[in-house]
Amino acid sequence: MNGETRATAVAHVNVALVKYWGKRDAELVIPWTSSLSMTLDAFYTTTSVRFVAEPGDDEVVLNGAPVTGVPRQRVTAFLDLVRTRTGRTGKALVDSENTVPTGAGLASSSSGFAALALAASSACGVELDATALSRLARRGSGSASRSVFGGFALWHAGHDDESSYAEPVESPGFDPVMVVALVDTAHKSVNSRDAMRRTVETSPLFRPWADSAPADLKEMRAAVERADLDAVGEITERNALGMHATMLAARPAVRYFAPATVSALDAVLALRRAGISAYATMDAGPNVKVLCRRADADAVAEAVHAAAGCPTAVAGAGPAARLLVAP
Ligand code: PMV
Repeated sequence: MNGETRATAVAHVNVALVKYWGKRDAELVIPWTSSLSMTLDAFYTTTSVRFVAEPGDDEVVLNGAPVTGVPRQRVTAFLDLVRTRTGRTGKALVDSENTVPTGAGLASSSSGFAALALAASSACGVELDATALSRLARRGSGSASRSVFGGFALWHAGHDDESSYAEPVESPGFDPVMVVALVDTAHKSVNSRDAMRRTVETSPLFRPWADSAPADLKEMRAAVERADLDAVGEITERNALGMHATMLAARPAVRYFAPATVSALDAVLALRRAGISAYATMDAGPNVKVLCRRADADAVAEAVHAAAGCPTAVAGAGPAARLLVAP
């Protein structure tokens, strides 16, 4: 199939409750540890991929602007993988829209590569099952393996391409939300790939954290399945702060905390002292995501806003990646 074909897919951002940090195999994106996430309804990426017959450089557009440099290389390398696997030839035109608030620094590679994996494979005439799609998305960005699924997803670290994929974790009736504190991100910090590599190679705290991950994951899975918000929250917060401790101990340190990050974390502690179940997590950036009950979302958003002085957004569990336009 080498004429003109196209497909459009949407995938939602996910936030890990038990984090992925560190690759055993950078080429195949095999992580050191398994992870578990919640897919969010409020933030997503819609991506159209059009393959044309002519050869040439792929064109990549994000939110109406051409993508260049390393981000473009990541997309073309991923498209090369899809072309190699499917036998498709010709260049691709990729057009992507993120609903993530502009300049918020919210990691969108999870939704971005999940949407790209689904749109690109479909445009090549290949219908992958969810497991195969998760494996493929993983190659673009590890966290994207989990955005193939809605709700909660567990990414099995595995040991090779075949064994490293995500699957859904069922939790009927569990309906927590994440209040996202959109802390200012005026300065560019280290990207997650470089930060992970540095942490694995130089942080004396990395191995102890990775060694503690299987216990966190086991407890987390059980807590999600029984819809136990306080247990989920406690494990979420300790696992994320532990991950950031590994980064702080890297040489040189990788520090994503901004002053407003710490203020938001203080607000979360104060909320808990006031009897509200609120638990924080952070990724490779200064934004703080606060897990809480839906009924407490407004109070949590208000407290975090007052403390950190930044806008907030509320997100519930979101749906699986899906095709909007099939070839
Ligand atoms: O998928 P990447 O390479 O952007 O890494 C994501 C890493 C964290 O967001 C910090 C944690 C996670 O599990 O999503």
